[in-house]
This record gives sequence, structure tokens and C-alpha cells, in this order.
Amino acid sequence: MKTFSKKQILIVDFGSQYSQLIARRVREVGVYCKIIPWNINKIKIKNLKPNGIILSGGPDSTINRNSPRVQKIIFNMNVPILGICYGMQIMSIQLGGNVVQSSFREFGFSKVYVHETCVLLDDIYDSVDEEGTHVLDVWMSHGDTVSVIPKDFKLIASTKNCKFAIIENKKRNFYGVQFHPEVTHTKQGLRILKRFVIKVCKCKTNWTPSNILKNITENIRTIVGKDEVILAISGGIDSLVTAIILNRAIGKKLICIFVDNGLLRENESSDVTKFLNEKMNLYVRKIVAKSRFFNALSGVSDPETKRKIIGKLFFEIFNEQAKKNKKIKWLAQGTICSDVIESAKIKYNRASLIKSHHNVGGLPKNIKIKLIEPLRRLFKDEVKKIGFELGLSYEIMNRHPFPGPGLGIRIIGEVKKLYCDLLRKADAIFIDELKKNDLYQKVSQAFAVFIPVRSISVVGDDRKYEWIISLRAVETTDFMTAKWAYLPHKFLSFVSTRIINEVPGISRVVYDISNKPPSTIEWE
Ligand code: XMP
Repeated sequence: MKTFSKKQILIVDFGSQYSQLIARRVREVGVYCKIIPWNINKIKIKNLKPNGIILSGGPDSTINRNSPRVQKIIFNMNVPILGICYGMQIMSIQLGGNVVQSSFREFGFSKVYVHETCVLLDDIYDSVDEEGTHVLDVWMSHGDTVSVIPKDFKLIASTKNCKFAIIENKKRNFYGVQFHPEVTHTKQGLRILKRFVIKVCKCKTNWTPSNILKNITENIRTIVGKDEVILAISGGIDSLVTAIILNRAIGKKLICIFVDNGLLRENESSDVTKFLNEKMNLYVRKIVAKSRFFNALSGVSDPETKRKIIGKLFFEIFNEQAKKNKKIKWLAQGTICSDVIESAKIKYNRASLIKSHHNVGGLPKNIKIKLIEPLRRLFKDEVKKIGFELGLSYEIMNRHPFPGPGLGIRIIGEVKKLYCDLLRKADAIFIDELKKNDLYQKVSQAFAVFIPVRSISVVGDDRKYEWIISLRAVETTDFMTAKWAYLPHKFLSFVSTRIINEVPGISRVVYDISNKPPSTIEWE
């Protein structure tokens, strides 16, 4: 797709858990930015023609000789640079300064005392101390510290334990901050980033939902031309927004396919297709393939194998549908930016613990259809803003996510139709009660898990030996880390009673109190 805006910021990712946060903050300001891995080909960097570059933090120590470096070309592109934490340290080393292990490691809140004026900070401060010095409340996370700044750099601000907390090379427009402006704990962080991208890099704030929408729609029309597009729709936010945009762009040339694989939640198949047909005016072709999925999953208990089988069958079904109509040249997917970044991290060997669930990585070789991913450059919060722009309701846009493999990964081990039926009922009770008790929107994701292990219970005079349901509810902003939700005991007790009374076969309900990390949100 065409580049949206001629002005853009590049974020060089050194593996920080906050790189995506930097990007989200820059976009919040209204400026387009892109995250690139630190070791990306230098020609690619040049071709991206950035207006400014931000060097991210990172988990390595810059003192280690083999730690990631800034590609030299970046310093010679004649564009402003902002180094954050690791980014500031590595820039200092590479430009002739030095970094040492600090005797005081700083993790958490700190106060930065501003000694000199600097374009990043003019009029930006949280308080003024007795001597009239401007003070910033910031968030730090570092063990190493810059001990010597490179030639032509100037000290701007310090903390009690870190002399070089902000440095500047005014002539070259290179800046370094040891704290993290991208986290909300740094109260003035967003303003500082805004200063950098607007005032220093001279970017325009045209990255707005209506502009993005207009641009995506035009690009789709240009790319697709007279061809037809098939879209795999699940009812999730990403594929829903993709469908509505495509519908706007190409109307009847869009064919939406909804596959009922038997691994969906209670009433999901009818609710989603009805909503899309009636409310969204989208024609949706429903393919019922329950037995095909159950047969393929029979006897399989390894989670990754289950995921692969389910993914492969989806593709097979879309391919069969596409073959029926020669005009179909495109398969649309609701892939978003974080999926792409995660897969790049896998490629660059930086996130070995991610499950193979992202729609990235292209299509199987035997498929002659091309891929179109209109949301590929957007973060989840941007997709949501576009959803609102398209008129989707708050209720729809704030539904909890549901994984592609569906209940297939919420049944531990082998997937059977009976287990799915029981899980669906228990899950529906849990979600129903969350909604009734005004708790659904207070948690980020909630669901039930089926544990095919029998335990004893005594119901009336009967001794029963039945299966277990685990309830899972988490709070998270990015789904990369999550805390289990402190749901009220009374509420949990009520849900448990309802499940045991209303779902024959289940006689024990447990609540999952594990955080991510180390536990993942899903059980498989
Ligand atoms: P985990 O279990 O990795 O989940 O902590 C993080 C988020 O990703 C969702 N998830 C998936 N989504 N296909 C998907 O489309 C998958 O295979 C998959 N596995 C996990 C999960 O529901 C949570 O929101």
C-alpha cells in the first residue's frame, strides 16, 4: 500500500518491551511512525526517508561488545534522533562517549532536575524546587549509565543518581533521555515526545481516523481494481472492521466467508451472521464444517498441532470457495500491526515464547490468491477508533477477543464435540453473569476452560464423578502481560453454582489465579 503520509518517524527497536508503546504515543500525537528491527537492511532504512528517528530502550547492556548497535547510516541521514534509555546509551558510545555500570540502579519513579534550556523541555515541567530549578517526575529502568557524553553534546538534566539524564547536540538535533517518556508514569512524557516529532522533526499531525480511513479505502480501490475479494470473517473486531472498510471500498466485489467449525461460543454462528447481514448490510456466506474439524482433530492433543490443523483447514475451505469463482484474486485478512511486529520479533529471534497464532507469514505455496491486509499498519487502539468512525457501537468494539482456534484451545487435550457443548454452556453462563453484574467491561478477557479430568462430587444422594471447568478472567492493556482479575467472591460463587446446576457433566468449578507471565492467558 502507498505510504500514508510523506512525514514519518522510524522507531528502531532494540527489543524493548516498550517499543510498541513509543509507536502508540507518537501516533496518538497524530504522526505516522513505523517500528523497524535494529538490524534491518540499511538500504531499507534509507528508502523509508524518515523525518526523525527514535532509538528504543532494550534488555541488553550497551557495555557488552556484542550488544545491538545503531546502523551507522542512521547518524548520517541528517535527521533528528531521540535516544531513549538503551538508545541514548548506545548513541553515546557510538559517537565517542562512554557508558559504565551504575553504582545506583534506578527502577521506578525519579526526579529529573533541568539545568539548561532545551527545545524538548521549554515550558514543560512538573514542579519547581526551592532554587527555582524545573523538576520532571519520570520513570526510569536502567542499570548502566552514560559516564562521558560525546563531543558537541551538552548536559541538560540530571537525577540524583544519574548525571546525564537528558543530553543534547543542538547542531545535529540529536537528543538522549535516560528515562522512559513513553510510559504514562512519566507525566510529561507525551508532551516531550510531541515536542520531538512536531517541533524538532517538523512532522504534520495528519494521522487521524478519518484520514486513515480515507487513505485505506482509496488504496484498496487502486489495488483491487475489478477483481473480487474473499474475506475470512470471524466476528472479531479486526476482521469486522476489515469487512466494513472493504464493503465501503468495493461493495459487492467483497465475499465474506464465515466458517462454523463447531469451536464457536454459544449462538455465535447465528448472532454474527445475523448482525453482519442485517445491521452491517454485508453479504456473508456461511460454511458449516463442524464434522470436518472434529474429524481432523480426533485423537490430537498437542496444542500446537491442534492450532496447525485448525489453521490449515480454514485455508483449505477458503481456497475451495475461491476456486469456485475465477474473479476472486484476493484473500483479505484482518492482520494488525502488533501481529506483524511479533512475527518480526520471532524472525529476529527476540521473542521465543510467542505462540504460532498470528495471521502473518503469508499463504501456503499452493494457493494462487494474493493477500490484502488493510489494517496491517494499525495498532488495536487505532482499529477501535476506526471502528467508531465507521459507526460501530461501543458494545461491539469492546467485546473481549476470541482466539482463531476458538474452543479448540480451551479444551485441554483432545477436542470432542461433547466437551465443546459443555464448555459452550459454562462459558455462556460466566459471560452472561459478568454482563449482568456490570463486570464484563471491567475485565479485558474472560472465558471458561474445559478440563477433561474427573473429580468426585455428591449431588443429592448421588455420588458423581464428573469434569472440571476453570474460569479465567484477566486485566491487561496489551495482552502481552496480564493480571488475573479480582472478581468478587460472591459473584464467583454464584457463577459456580449456576454452572454446576445447569451444565450436566460438570461438578467442580475452579478460578484461575495465575498472572502472565509466566502463565499465558489461554490455557494452551
Ligand atoms: P496468550 O494465551 O498467548 O494470549 O497469553 C494472548 C492473546 O492472544 C489470544 N490468542 C490467540 N488468538 N489465535 C488467535 O487468534 C490463537 O491461536 C491465539 N492464542 C491466544 C488470546 O485469546 C489472548 O487474547
